[in-house]
Amino acid sequence: MVVAAVLGAAGGIGQPLSLLVKQNPAIKELRLFDVVPVVKGVAADVSHVDTPAITTGYVKDEDGLKHALKGADIVIIPAGVPRKPGMTRDDLFNINAGIVRDLAQGIAENCPKAFVLIISNPVNSTVPIAAEVFKAAGTFDPKRLFGVTTLDVVRASTMSAQAIGKPNDASQYTIPVVGGHSGVTILPLLSQSKPALPESLFSDSEKLKALVNRIQFGGDEVVQAKAGGGSATLSMAYAGYKFAEQLIAAAFEGKKGVVAPSYVYVADNKDVQKEIGQDLAFFSVPVELGPNGAEKLHPLGQLSSYEKELLQACLGELPGSITKGVNFIQQPK
Ligand code: NAI
Repeated sequence: MVVAAVLGAAGGIGQPLSLLVKQNPAIKELRLFDVVPVVKGVAADVSHVDTPAITTGYVKDEDGLKHALKGADIVIIPAGVPRKPGMTRDDLFNINAGIVRDLAQGIAENCPKAFVLIISNPVNSTVPIAAEVFKAAGTFDPKRLFGVTTLDVVRASTMSAQAIGKPNDASQYTIPVVGGHSGVTILPLLSQSKPALPESLFSDSEKLKALVNRIQFGGDEVVQAKAGGGSATLSMAYAGYKFAEQLIAAAFEGKKGVVAPSYVYVADNKDVQKEIGQDLAFFSVPVELGPNGAEKLHPLGQLSSYEKELLQACLGELPGSITKGVNFIQQPK
């Protein structure tokens, strides 16, 4: 059975995510960590749910991080500040970079073999930060580090179903979303939807562009509607758990054929480099999950000419975000 930890568990994402993780029968222990003491109350609250996971809360003082992480199999990180209107995910870098660095250090020291799922934004940079911390500690396993981009996948299904006038059918459309997790770096491959989206969508270039834009900037709808109250939390908790559930099933319960897009280390994968036409260290691709984590990276496949343009826009921004994360650790100011 699995030991799971949620870091930043008292937050807008952390609380509903912890509740969802608690419902997974494969979890034997669920440890909730945060810098604010209310996390102990969140743990007490969640612990009453009648599922197997024994749920405990830890705060930063009292050596809480160590106790939360010791021997954990899977660590999910939604710690950090969220966006306010007018902010991009990159604006969060100054605060969240240091948070992710310190939590990654704790993972390297206490559960170096854990699967690590990073939700804290900007994911395009925070995942490289965690990788650099793990490399410096000698614990980096590229198969075990994931940037959670599942909300983009979830939005792609929902928004595509709405765009084609079938809003009740969102769950029927599986659409790979690749690239990064911010604005134009988000590359939804609508042409690869299963089942296929109707031809009428692809022949109406304005409609297609509007849909892609909505998927890329869907987070802004929530940020604006919350008007200063934060960014997506409930749909993110749903998406974060969806990915965690897939990983748990594939890694610990022997489920085969589980493929989900995630922002992973691709530096040593020549096929991916060739497809994107650049030497990039991180990129979101459909990942086949298994006992060791990211067992196999699937190709992006055939892109339409419009998707090729979108890929170029993604490549205009993503390398800088990766370098920013790497430099934060390699050349600290
Ligand atoms: P929030 O402010 O409601 O919660 C964040 C929690 O992190 C708080 O409880 C805070 O006390 C805690 N925290 C801060 N520093 C910490 C540390 N050093 N160790 C442990 N916990 C710490 O924020 P919310 O809305 O839950 O968002 C969290 C993060 O998730 C943000 O960075 C946000 O941008 C990101 N996010 C990512 C998405 C994705 O698709 N990957 C989607 C939506 C948000």
